[in-house]
Order: sequence, then C-alpha cells, then structure tokens
Amino acid sequence: MRQEWFDEARFGMFVHFGIYSVAARHEWVQSYERLTDDDYRQYFEHFDPDRFDARAIARQAREAGMGYVVLTTKHHDGFCLFDSALTDFSSQQTSGRDLVREFVDAVRAEGLKVGLYHSVIDWHHPDFTVDWNHPRRDDENAAALNEGRDMARYREYLHGQVQELLTQYGRIDYLFFDFTYPESRDGWAGKGPDAWDAEALLGMCRELQPDMLVNDRLGIPADFVTPEQYQPTAPLVDEQGAPRVWEACQTLNGSWGYHRDNTDQKSPTLLVQMLADSVSMDGNMLLNIGPDGRGAIAPRDARTLDEIGRWMLLHRDAIVGAGHAEFTPPREGVYTRRGDRLYLHLFSWPLGFVHLPDLAGRVSFARLLNDGSWLKTSVPDPDQHDTHMTPTLQDEGTLTVHLPVQRPDVLMPVIELTLAD
Ligand code: GLC
Repeated sequence: MRQEWFDEARFGMFVHFGIYSVAARHEWVQSYERLTDDDYRQYFEHFDPDRFDARAIARQAREAGMGYVVLTTKHHDGFCLFDSALTDFSSQQTSGRDLVREFVDAVRAEGLKVGLYHSVIDWHHPDFTVDWNHPRRDDENAAALNEGRDMARYREYLHGQVQELLTQYGRIDYLFFDFTYPESRDGWAGKGPDAWDAEALLGMCRELQPDMLVNDRLGIPADFVTPEQYQPTAPLVDEQGAPRVWEACQTLNGSWGYHRDNTDQKSPTLLVQMLADSVSMDGNMLLNIGPDGRGAIAPRDARTLDEIGRWMLLHRDAIVGAGHAEFTPPREGVYTRRGDRLYLHLFSWPLGFVHLPDLAGRVSFARLLNDGSWLKTSVPDPDQHDTHMTPTLQDEGTLTVHLPVQRPDVLMPVIELTLAD
C-alpha cells in the first residue's frame, strides 16, 4: 500500500521558503498588498539564501521525531526553488542554487521521506488569468488584463514543471499540490480541476512516480485529504463511511512563510497536544517552519522544534506507528494505540487518580512513559464505598490509575497501558 510509511510516520515537517521570506510579511504578501511584479522584483534581486542549509533542516526534522519533510518547490508567487528549463524566475537564476536538489539529497541522507509542495496557482506567469486571488485583481484595468492570457499555455508550463520535478530528482515520496478554488467571487471566476487538467496531471504523477502519495488539492480525490490550520474532531471518513487518510497541516504562528513581526507562536505543549490529537483520530500532522530571509531556521522555531524533539525522544512509541483506539478516553486527554499498547495523553494533570471507562480487567500493566515508572491501578469496589475519603464511585468496569501529585516534567505526560487481551 502506497501510504503505509505515511500512516506509520504520523509526523512531518513542512518548509515554506521563497522570495517572500525576504519580504518577511506572509507568503501571500504579493496578493495581500496588491504588489506589482516591479514592486515584488526587489525580493528576487536580493534573494541570498546563504544560510539555507538543507542538511540542518533535515537533521532538525529527524531530531523532532518527524518521518518526512515537504519543501515548497514553487509558491503562488511563481518563484521556483529548482533549476527549471521553463523559467528564469528561480533560485538557480538569482542565486545559482537548486535548492530542491540540495533538499532532496539532504532529506534522503537523513533517512526521511522526500515530499514536495507545488503551487498550481502562479501569479508570475503571463498566461495565468487574473482572478479573485490574484495581486492584479483591483487594478483599474483589471478586466482587460485577461485579454490574451491563455490558461492552455499556462497548463503546459505547469505540467512541464511537474514533469521536471518528477524526473530529475530521483524518487519522490509525496506531492502536495496547492490549490483549487472553483467558486466565483467579486465577478471573477475561480479555478477548478479543469484549470489544471487535474486528471492528466494526476495521471502523469502515477506514471512517473507510481508509489508517490498525492494530496487532494487538484480538486479531484487522490491519496489523502488536507485539513488546514484546524483540527478535525473525529476520524475522517468518506461518503461511504470508509476511513480517509488525512493530514492536518499546521503553522507555528499562523503564517507559512517567514513573518518576522508575527508573534502568535504556538506553545510546544499545544503542538504536542495537537499531534497526539491527530494520531488519536488516525491522522498525521505536518508542522511548518518558514526559514528566514537568508534561509536559516528562525531561532524561535528551532527552540520549539527542540522542545518537541525532547518530548518525542521519550514518547515516540505513543505517536509513530500509532493510531486511533476504540475506547472512550477520560475527560483529561486522548488515547492512541499501537498493537497491545494503549497510550493516554494527558492534556491536564488530575489530582491523584485518573478513571478509565471500560478498562477494568483489560490492562496488565500501567506505567508513565517518560520514565517507565509503574503506576498502581485498582477497580473501585462499590461495597467498600463507605467513606468520604475514597474517590468518587465510578461506573462499573472503570479502571482507576493512581497518579503521583507531581506532574512529570514533560510537555505532556503519557500513561502507557499494556492491554491484557
Ligand atoms: C494554502 C495557502 C498557502 C499555504 C498552504 C499550506 O492554501 O495558500 O499559502 O502554502 O495552504 O497548506
């Protein structure tokens, strides 16, 4: 099965890097600020990724416990991080470096799976028609701008570049296309699967890289779906009720590209909770970093990844190779399961006891995962419930785990339960 490694890995790194990293105010800056090609050109001219170190990025990902890394090969602004024969608007032209090549080699060398992101939107290409996302949408002569633009020619370019990426960099494990928006707005048409000739594009992916996973953002179903900047609340299923492979992509501060003045940084604790939450619903989490204008991992991001890495070092078994468990968790957290191990990820630390519905008689051993220390368990006996000093009477079948008063000093404590049956 194509997605076996993906289900196993559970945790990946997204890397958004481009000339917008020099602008340092969101990867959509050209569209948000309606910048002309001339306005935007300075970021191309002065793009100098002297601190972009693909090996450091790959190492940081592995140390954070991630199994794959996904790099933007081209974002909506059209700037390419690879040596494309089809455009001059690339890192090769402005800095003499094929960053995709460096990335692919480094990620492979680190033993991780190689993922590429490719924008099907392209605000730089002269044939890509203006629509409600395009930086030129509010120009005085906006309507006239589409005269002479020919999406068929753009499609050739798009397919040509995807072909380059899938033939010149060896085995690619994962491709994230971005994105389709068929609805019209403000008098502008959107762009659906026809705009990209999605069927043919996906067909080419299957032909050139048969084992590669492809996401759903060409607007047609493929291998996995991509909730963005929110968490689902249950395992995802299709119309027939069959499970869907899914991956939530998440930012560190709300922006994908480097945004210097944005301080909405998520805490490492929140991020590991989101990771456990995803795995508890059979999903993956793709966590983004936006390297700075010189290509370095921003110190605040490196610190966050280091902390997550310290947690993953001790709690890896509760994430990697784990998935949804068919038990109702207590109110303090979520479960993940790997074989005969059930993991309780505690979002809050209760006083003295945690009560697990329906697990009485089903657990042969309980321990804290961070230090392997045994935890006493008991099944409350209703006949003995005669004093105000015993914990509240629980429903029949409840297993009570006894906890130390001191919460373990980790981002999120995990209790490992070995299932008896
Ligand atoms: C989006 C955004 C984008 C980001 C991406 C990541 O749809 O347009 O900037 O790259 O999703 O999922």
